[in-house]
Order: sequence, then C-alpha cells, then structure tokens
Amino acid sequence: MRDLFARDPDRARRFTRHIGDLVVDLSKHRFAEETLILLLDLARAVQMEARIQEMFSGAAINLSERRPVLHVALRAPAGSTLCVNGTDVMPAVHAELGRMHERVRSLNAGERKGWTGRNIDTVVNIGIGGSDLGPRLAVEALRARRATRLKVRFVTNLDGRDLHGVLEKCDPETTLFIVASKSFTTLETLTNADSARGWLTQRGCPTPNAHFLAVTCNDKAALKWGIAKDHVHLIWDWVGGRYSVWSAVGLPLALGIGRAGFQEFLDGAHAMDRHFQQSPLDGNVPVLLALLDVWYSDFYRAATRAVIPYDQRLRLLPDYLGQLVMESNGKRVDRHGRAVRQGTSPVVWGALGTNSQHAFFQLLHQGTQLIPIEFLLPLKADGDERHQLRLVASGLAQSKALMAGRKGREHRHFPGNQPSTTILYPDLTPFTLGALLALYEHRTFAEAVLWGINAFDQWGVELGKQLTTELVSQLEGGLAAAHDSSTASLLDLYRKRNTTRQG
Ligand code: F6P
Repeated sequence: MRDLFARDPDRARRFTRHIGDLVVDLSKHRFAEETLILLLDLARAVQMEARIQEMFSGAAINLSERRPVLHVALRAPAGSTLCVNGTDVMPAVHAELGRMHERVRSLNAGERKGWTGRNIDTVVNIGIGGSDLGPRLAVEALRARRATRLKVRFVTNLDGRDLHGVLEKCDPETTLFIVASKSFTTLETLTNADSARGWLTQRGCPTPNAHFLAVTCNDKAALKWGIAKDHVHLIWDWVGGRYSVWSAVGLPLALGIGRAGFQEFLDGAHAMDRHFQQSPLDGNVPVLLALLDVWYSDFYRAATRAVIPYDQRLRLLPDYLGQLVMESNGKRVDRHGRAVRQGTSPVVWGALGTNSQHAFFQLLHQGTQLIPIEFLLPLKADGDERHQLRLVASGLAQSKALMAGRKGREHRHFPGNQPSTTILYPDLTPFTLGALLALYEHRTFAEAVLWGINAFDQWGVELGKQLTTELVSQLEGGLAAAHDSSTASLLDLYRKRNTTRQG
C-alpha cells in the first residue's frame, strides 16, 4: 500500500466515496485499479444488480424459509408500494408504525398508569439477539436526542442476574415491560418475561399482565401468554430479527428519541436503500465494501475483521454487527443447499478506540495475521473539543501506522500494509445512524450474493436450542436422555452440586 500511495498522489480522492454526509475512505486497502475492475467483474458475474432488485421486489429470496426479505419496506415513505404475494405491505407497515407512535405518545403523556394509578415511568425491554441488540445500540447511541422523561432499560441474558439487576432499579407500580420476540418462543425471553411477571405478583400487583406489551409476529402465542390484544405490536415474517430495529422492535428507541427522531432514523436508512438500489456498482458503497470483504476472506484467507468505533456512542456496534454479519453469513451451504466451495463470513469483532489501542492493537500492528479494520470517526465535537480532537487524531494515527508501518530493528519493526476502511460522519444523528446501520445490512446482503449463500436464515442456532430444551427438562426431573460421557458427567456434577446445596 505504501507503493500504491507513492505512485498515485490522488489515491485517497479516487477511492473515497460519499453517500450524503457519510465519507467512506477505501484507499488504505490492498488493491490496485485493476483489482477493483476484476472485483467488479465478480459482482457482475453473480448478477449483483438483478439480485438487489429482486430483494426490493418482494420476491421470496430467503429460499430455505420461502420468504421475502423486506426490511426496506419498514423505512419506505408513505406513498411507496412494496408487495408480498401481490399484496402491498405498506398500509400495514404504516398502520403499525402509527400504533407504535401512539403508544409512545400515551406513555409520555402519562396516560398509562400502573396498577396503583401512578404513571408508568420505566420501560424494560425483554428480548435477545435482534430483539435486543438493535434497539439497545440505537437507544444508547442517540441518548443525546432524548425526548422522554421515562427510563428505558434492557434485559436479555438468561442469567437471572441480568433481570434482577434491572429489577432492583425499578418500581413495580410504575414499570412496563415489552416482551420483544418475533417468534414468541425464545427460551431466554420467555423465562425473563415469566420471572418479571412473578416479580410483579410478589409485590402485590393484582393485574400483572396489564404491565406487559408484546412485539411479535406470533400474536397467538403472545395472547396465550396473557398479553391483551391491543398491547400486541405486530411485525411480519418477512422481517429477520437482526433486521428488525426499524419495526415495532424499535419501540424503546421511538420512546427514547420521539416520533420525529425515529422518523429521521428511518429516513437515513431509506436514503441508504435508495443508494444501494440505484447506484451503479462502482459507486455502490455497500457493494464495494462487500467486494473488499470477499477479497480478504477468499484471496488472503483473512479469518476475522475488526470494527473500531472512535465514538463512545457506538460502544455496542461490534456486538450488533457480530449478530448481523455472522448470523447472516456464517453459512456452509449455498442458497440452494449445496456445500460452498469457498470461505464465507469471517469473524467480526471489535471494541471502542482508544481503549482497544491499549489492549489488542499490539497484535494488529505486529502480529502475524491479516485483519482488515474499520475505523468510525465522528467529525463534530459536540462536547469537549479537546477530547474530540485527540480522539480523532488517535484514530487517524492508527490507520496511518497500520498502513505505512515503520522500518526498525527486530522488536521495533512495524511491517505496515494492514488494510483499513475509515468511515467519517459529521455527527451521530438519528439520520446518520439509520444510514450507517442500513449500509451494514446491505453490505452483508451483497457479501451473501457474492458467496451465493442465503443471508436471511439461521438454521445453525436450532440444534443448540433443541438440546437446551431437552437438558432443561432432564435437569427439572424429566426423562434422562443418553449423552456422550462428557455431557453426562458435566450434568451429573451440576445436579450433585445443587442437590447438596438444597440438602
Ligand atoms: O436464535 C437466533 C434468533 O432467532 C435470532 O435470529 C433472533 O434475533 C433471536 O433468536 C431472538 O428471536 P426472537 O425475536 O424470536 O425471540
């Protein structure tokens, strides 16, 4: 890369792309002009443009589940038409959006009371995976746009310490729970919801179910659990969990930043949808990023890539992307079920800059692995300018050092040539965050198109779920199943330990 920069003083300008306010600098990557031409040929060979249009057309591109993939409908403006099986889904999308905003309005207006007549002042979202990570990330990222006096909290882990840690801070008389679960069958979420209901009952609430809302595709199960019909917010089977923050799954965010803020968030995503749908391949940023992902995974055998936000507000972005990218593209068969012949998703990981500089950057600078990195940097110093200036300088110093390296003897030698993307944004507004998350969604889909895999199913999580159910039943005294000797002896140790305690 040092040579590429030396030969072409114009390299940064030629390989920096702008989408609205977002600046994406691709110049610190290991490619020459010709590489890009060939990679774009690859995109053409897999009919990238046609595959993108297919998604937007509502065709059932999630082949293994025979479903369309239409999270783009969730942020399409009024007046758009997007059809599933000949039916325009937009009226239903906007009706549910309206119901969500009405819920937020009534909570903010103090119209929702708890069982003793006091106003609800805390909302706890119970969900996991896509029913947690998106809203949790966005609420934290956009805290500065706070438009409510209500407290918004999240519970996700099956470990009871998570729920109980949150409940300690809540008043049962004034707390409302959202059970966010597309399937309404998820063990972790239903266990937490049951326990939250038990907590209300133990504290004297005569009508605990009235303290619950549901966000789900499975309204029957939510009603059966005890949630009132008008407390159920619907999502659809054509919205994947990890692509659902734009739906009523985003209720905690709508509460956090208000109707106008949430609309800006949707508008940012929609602007990115238009870019993805309308830009030619060589100017299509999600496609270009996906090509680079495939370039490093398949041609350099890079096993991981790192995301390093120099922005405290994006602390949870690496976790969110972990699910988005790896649950989507961690696949071993193509979309028709045949074994893939190339690698698929690398591990996506990361942490905040500058914290990570003083933790694992040693390996990035001098380790033996190739790890493409993504730096995210906000340009606007809204707060302490002295800190912001130093923060931006730190991020840019790292990307420069990783690219350029420095000659030295033995331990002091930095080989450089470590690739990175730098994404700059003016400030983290709802619009920018919406655009950024949609950029990652489309890049993930474009990667899947290049690999010929289905980004929208997740069969790989099923076996663990099934075995957990069996083991729970066995530990609760059900029929003993046959296990390998390791699992059997570990179960035995748990059982003995807990029998002794009870004794
Ligand atoms: O098990 C994986 C998964 O299905 C994710 O895809 C999803 O986001 C998460 O579990 C939660 O699922 P649900 O919203 O149905 O509770």
